[in-house]
Amino acid sequence: MDHSNYVIEQMISAKSIAARVETLAAEISEHFADTDKLIIVGLLRGSFVFIADLVRELDLPCEVDFLETSSYGNSTKSSREVRILKDLRGEIKGRDILVVEDIVDTGHTLKHVIALLKSRGPARLEVCALLDKPARREVDVKATWIGFEIPDKFVVGYGIDYAQRNRNLDHIGAVRFIDN
Ligand code: IMP
Ligand code: MG
Repeated sequence: MDHSNYVIEQMISAKSIAARVETLAAEISEHFADTDKLIIVGLLRGSFVFIADLVRELDLPCEVDFLETSSYGNSTKSSREVRILKDLRGEIKGRDILVVEDIVDTGHTLKHVIALLKSRGPARLEVCALLDKPARREVDVKATWIGFEIPDKFVVGYGIDYAQRNRNLDHIGAVRFIDN
C-alpha cells in the first residue's frame, strides 16, 4: 500500500493540551514537592514539545536529561526490540526521576526504559505520558500520569511524527491514509 497520501484530522486541540499540561504539572509538583533532586528524563524525540511545556509549568527545582530509543523507522508498526540510541548524560543513582514519554503504545519501550533506569538505583521513578493507547498494549506497563487516553489510531503533532514529519503541528491529529 502506498503511504504517501494522507490527511491529518484533528483529535486534540492545542488549547485542550495546554489545559491538561497545566493540570498534570500541578499534580507532579505536588507529588515531588519535598524533593530538590528531580531529573526529568525525556524520551527523544517525540516528547520534546511536551517536555518543554511541562517543565515550564512545574513548580519545582529540576534538571533535564534525554534518552533516545530506537523508533519505528518510517513504518507505523511497532518493532518489539528496543535499543538505546543515546544514553543519559548524567548519573541517576539516588535521584528522583520523572520519565516523560509521548505515547505508550504496545508498552515495550516504556517497560524496557523503566527496567534500565531502575537498575541504576534511582530513589524514586515515576512516568508521565502525554498519550496512552490501552487497546494496543502487549506488555503490562502503566504510566503514573497520562495526558489523554486515545483510540487505536496513528497520531502526529505536538512533537510526534509520521516519517519525521508533522512534529511542528500545535495539536494532535490522527493520520488517515488515502489509497489510490
Ligand atoms: P511502544 O513501544 O509500542 O509503546 O511504542 C512507543 C513509541 O512508539 C512511542 O514513544 C512513539 O514514539 C511511537 N508511537 C506509538 N504510537 C505512535 C503514533 O500513533 N504516532 C507516532 N508515533 C507513535
Ligand atoms: Mg517515542
